[in-house]
Amino acid sequence: LKTDFLFNASFPDLKKLTDRKSTVILTDEHVFDAHAAKFRGWNSIVLKAGEEYKIQETADAVIRQLIQLEADRNTFLVGAGGGVITDLTGYIASIYMRGLRFGLIPSTILAMADAAIGGKNGVDVGVYKNLVGTVRQPSFVLYDLDLLNSLPLGEWENGFAEIIKHACIKDARMFHQLEKTDLLSYQSDRELLASLIRRNATIKLNVVRADEFEKAARKLLNFGHTLGHALENQYEVTHGQAISIGMSFACLVSREWFGFSKAGRVEELLTRYGLPVRARFNRDKVWEVLKLDKKRSGKAMDFVLLNDIGKGFIHRVPLERLKKMFYKF
Ligand SMILES: NC(=O)c1ccc[n+]([C@@H]2O[C@H](COP(=O)([O-])OP(=O)(O)OC[C@H]3O[C@@H](n4cnc5c(N)ncnc54)[C@H](O)[C@@H]3O)[C@@H](O)[C@H]2O)c1
Repeated sequence: LKTDFLFNASFPDLKKLTDRKSTVILTDEHVFDAHAAKFRGWNSIVLKAGEEYKIQETADAVIRQLIQLEADRNTFLVGAGGGVITDLTGYIASIYMRGLRFGLIPSTILAMADAAIGGKNGVDVGVYKNLVGTVRQPSFVLYDLDLLNSLPLGEWENGFAEIIKHACIKDARMFHQLEKTDLLSYQSDRELLASLIRRNATIKLNVVRADEFEKAARKLLNFGHTLGHALENQYEVTHGQAISIGMSFACLVSREWFGFSKAGRVEELLTRYGLPVRARFNRDKVWEVLKLDKKRSGKAMDFVLLNDIGKGFIHRVPLERLKKMFYKF
């Protein structure tokens, strides 16, 4: 990947990376309102906030605005926001005039540790998340941790769900560090947070480098996401809460089938960071969605399990067998 990662940067560094006149920033209303001064002097398009706006209609509206701004192939797009904005920016940059250069300034923990890295982008179609999109790498990802000063607590928890995911599948040492620390410490210690974010960005980057188009290794990043997506789809839970419950389920399956002995520790860690590990939900209803997951082919599905903390692996599971476990969870 030819992306520059600027870990110790700040928003104003943007002017060293791109020319003001030919740059258009996409952001959302929350980020813009909380950090208006940083956007002064830049062409900005401010979108409504929320996953429900990560749709083709928004991309079309932005494209019309780009035409009005006389954007051409030399226009540089910058996405400053959470994962919704970084996904939309990458997507629009890859379709407008068959492709513009773009950079990202992630503003949530989730986008810093995950969404801004790897080049996957896209929009949702109805209940199908990320159904339409492309893979296109940003020129840079600029990290300005001051943006997090305005991030609501629930969004910190969402981001930490993905961080715990990374620890579970790839990094036992980070898992131990997370066990010894807590959210408040990361919120109040900038150095500690910076190194955590950098470590997570690197984990994601290494997985993506090994497998940009998700043929094998990249599938590990779906740990907790099969049940997670099905829950998110049917109930009012956040993404972090949904994948937290999904990770607990995957730990249980790992224990039953492969003797994974640390399911309890994973659940304790999730709880420590304010995330749920169980929920009451309608098994039949959720199974109907779960079994249609993108990772399914025929009567089996690629499911991410743990051999140990830090050692995720992909196991092809017959749906009938998974269903039995699911009803026990
Ligand atoms: N492309 C990928 O590889 C990838 C990976 C993971 C997730 N994603 C996508 O990321 C999206 C989720 O990302 P997210 O959790 O960042 O969601 P988001 O972009 O919706 O941001 C969450 C909320 O926080 C607000 N916000 C963002 N930054 C803020 C700040 N600094 N201060 C105050 N409020 C702020 C937003 O306006 C929004 O209300 C999903 O659409 C998901 O599909 C993509």
